Amino acid sequence: MRKKIVAGNWKMNLSFQDAEDLVEHILELLDKETITAEVIVCPPYPYLELATDYAEEGNIGVGAQNLSPFDAGAYTGEVSAAMLVSMGVTHCIIGHSERRKYFNEDDKMLTAKVNQALKHKLTPIFCVGEALPERQAGSHFDVVRSQVRHGLFHLDTDEFHKVVIAYEPVWAIGTGVTATPDQAQEMHAYIRTLITERYGKDVADATLILYGGSCNAANAEEIFAKPGVDGGLIGGASIKAEEFVSICKQA
Ligand code: PGA
Repeated sequence: MRKKIVAGNWKMNLSFQDAEDLVEHILELLDKETITAEVIVCPPYPYLELATDYAEEGNIGVGAQNLSPFDAGAYTGEVSAAMLVSMGVTHCIIGHSERRKYFNEDDKMLTAKVNQALKHKLTPIFCVGEALPERQAGSHFDVVRSQVRHGLFHLDTDEFHKVVIAYEPVWAIGTGVTATPDQAQEMHAYIRTLITERYGKDVADATLILYGGSCNAANAEEIFAKPGVDGGLIGGASIKAEEFVSICKQA
C-alpha cells in the first residue's frame, strides 16, 4: 500500500511573521491528531529555514517551490538543489503550471531541474496537467503523456522510483472548480499505465501520484478515496492551518 502525501504549496503568499504563525499553528494542530499521511509544507524560499527549524520538532517535510537547473556558480538570483538540501529541505515542486506559464519553463529546463533534484537527493514533486481548451478538445491524455514522457522518462528505474507526480489540471488550479473524483482517478490510472509501459508494473504500483487543483477540506475525502489518488498538492487551502490539517486528516 502506498503511503499518502499531503503537500501544501504556499505559492508567493504571506509575510515572514504570517509564515511563522502558520507553520506553528499547523504543527500545533497536527500534534493533536493521528495522521497517517506524510505532511509537507512548501513555503517561499526566504521562509524555508524557518520551516526546516520547525520541521525538526514536528514530523513534517519541507519542500521548495522551485530550484535552479544549474549546479552552482554565476547564476544570479538562482537557488541550487545543494543549497536546499543543506538547509534540510526534502522535496521540491518542479514543473508547476504557473512556472511553465509565467516563467516559460519548457521540457528541457524541467528535465534539468529534475536531474538536479535527484542528483542532490531532493524528492521532485513533478507537476503535470492540461489546460481547459486542451480538455475541451479531448487532448488531455496526449498533453499529460507528453509532459510525463519529456519530463521524467529519461530517468533510469532507480531514479524514477524517487519521483512523486502531481496531476494538476490547470483549469482546476485556484479556480474553485475541482476535477471530479472520477476525472482524477481516470487520469491517475492513465499516468500509471504510462509508467507501467516504461518501467513495469511494480514501479507503477509504487509511484505516488497526488491530485492538485482546488482541493479543500470539503472535497478532499472523496478525491483521496479513489484508489489511484495518493494524496494532494494543496494551494489556497494550505495557508489556512485548520483547513490544511483537516485535509491531512482525510488522506
Ligand atoms: P489550488 O492550487 O489548491 O489553490 O487550486 C493547487 C496548486 O497550484 O498546487
